Amino acid sequence: MSLASVSFAKAVIPNSGVAVVVTDDEGRFGRDAAALDLAAGGAIARAVAAAGFKGKANGFLDILAPHGVGLDRVIVAGVGKLAEATDESWLKFGGALAGKLAELKLSHACLLLERPDAENLPPDHAAAVAQGAVLRSFNFNKYKTKKSDDDAPKSLKLTLALDGHSAAKKAYAPREAVAEGVILARDLVNEPANVLGPSEFAAEAKKLADLGVEVDILTEKEMKKLGMHAYLGVGVGSARPPRFVVLRWNGGKDKDKPVAFIGKGVVFDSGGISIKPAAGMEDMKGDMGGAACVLGLMRALAGRKARCNVIGALGLVENMPDGAAQRPGDIVTSMSGQTIEIINTDAEGRLVLCDMLWYVQDKFKPAFMIDLATLTGAILVALGQEHAGLFANDDTLAERITAAGKATNERVWRMPLGADYDKQIDSKFADMKNTGGRNAGSITAAQFLQRFVNGTTWAHLDVAGTAMSSPNSDINRSWGSGWGVRLLDRLVKDYYEG
Ligand code: BES
Ligand code: MN
Ligand code: ZN
Repeated sequence: MSLASVSFAKAVIPNSGVAVVVTDDEGRFGRDAAALDLAAGGAIARAVAAAGFKGKANGFLDILAPHGVGLDRVIVAGVGKLAEATDESWLKFGGALAGKLAELKLSHACLLLERPDAENLPPDHAAAVAQGAVLRSFNFNKYKTKKSDDDAPKSLKLTLALDGHSAAKKAYAPREAVAEGVILARDLVNEPANVLGPSEFAAEAKKLADLGVEVDILTEKEMKKLGMHAYLGVGVGSARPPRFVVLRWNGGKDKDKPVAFIGKGVVFDSGGISIKPAAGMEDMKGDMGGAACVLGLMRALAGRKARCNVIGALGLVENMPDGAAQRPGDIVTSMSGQTIEIINTDAEGRLVLCDMLWYVQDKFKPAFMIDLATLTGAILVALGQEHAGLFANDDTLAERITAAGKATNERVWRMPLGADYDKQIDSKFADMKNTGGRNAGSITAAQFLQRFVNGTTWAHLDVAGTAMSSPNSDINRSWGSGWGVRLLDRLVKDYYEG
């Protein structure tokens, strides 16, 4: 895994190595860039003019060894229209810069970070640059034994030199914790299922104890006692037994109700007896993307000592076909007492989640529960990879999730729920069946889950399109995206911390 480390320093122009200066879309230089240009006898400004470089956001001009300064390189970085600069645009800038440095195979650089329009750069925007660079630099290459030509250097050391560097460093501390949470989630999603089974995933969760998180790992025996037969049925065809992990971060007041996050953690989804086609089945190592996000979130919240009580639940299990596997036609009794006829063993996520939702509302009486699951291929058909599907029984919670999604650019789109869809999951033999046919596949799955929330304020995020197979972005080059960690961290920060 390659990573970046970022440090903050006083705004001093370096006299060796690589310096990065910024310019905006009006071609303006700030104080430090101008000083460097002066020292170079105007060579930087001349190079910018000669190249027709206009300072558009995330464009770069690489100038080699300009005369008069001891630097190997001066990279001029465009930050675009500063009047429109946001936290998010600085995050992307940091990502794009780290990408450029990797492309040039540079492992050290000093960014002279200033606003060319002479406005103050808020510490949080500087922190966003650092976070963007760290997120972009993550690269899951631990199983590559040979270095390929386009491999970036193992690690990037980036110094941000700016006025008010102490305040920027302070603003970065919580954002560093969040970046670590995102990277943990990405790592878990990328990891193959032969390496990461239910117990290995649970062991990763246990490591959060070091940050003060309480971690309980329930085994099959305890789950049986609780009556989680819908969840257990998913795992009986696997040689590796399930683990149900409950994490607790108590950063709030004793009397504060907790908020709860619940993740589908199917470490591999073969489909079971209703086996999936071979093409693309390898992607189903990522069917634990919901649980990875929840664990990454807990890491972020504990790492930045969020002032909130939080429950994280991971439903770890493997869906495999063997002689003991669950069959279509089987009927299982969920922890809630409701019975479910299995029509398709590949609709396993809802079977895992239904017992988790029931358990969490029953045991913790949370202010809300949000589940995340790579639940349906149908959500990809509806929304592609640009939005996760949001289902909720509460408008306020839905609006808050939507707002946090916009703020972090991890966007969600609200989908409908409604009793009219219930008839699609009526069963001839049991209280319900686990599939509702081709039409409205994501909605009938959500409608199924709603039967287990027992009136608790609840939202469901279908992340089948956003958690894995991620398109490249300024802040991500990883197949597993860590989607949702930044969104949910933001949700907690903006609405649920005293
Ligand atoms: N894990 C899959 C959904 C999925 C598909 C996630 C593509 C990521 C990418 C889920 O368990 C599943 O198999 N769902 C079925 C449900 C169907 C049998 C009702 C599906 O979407 O086809
Ligand atoms: Mn499935
Ligand atoms: Zn699945």
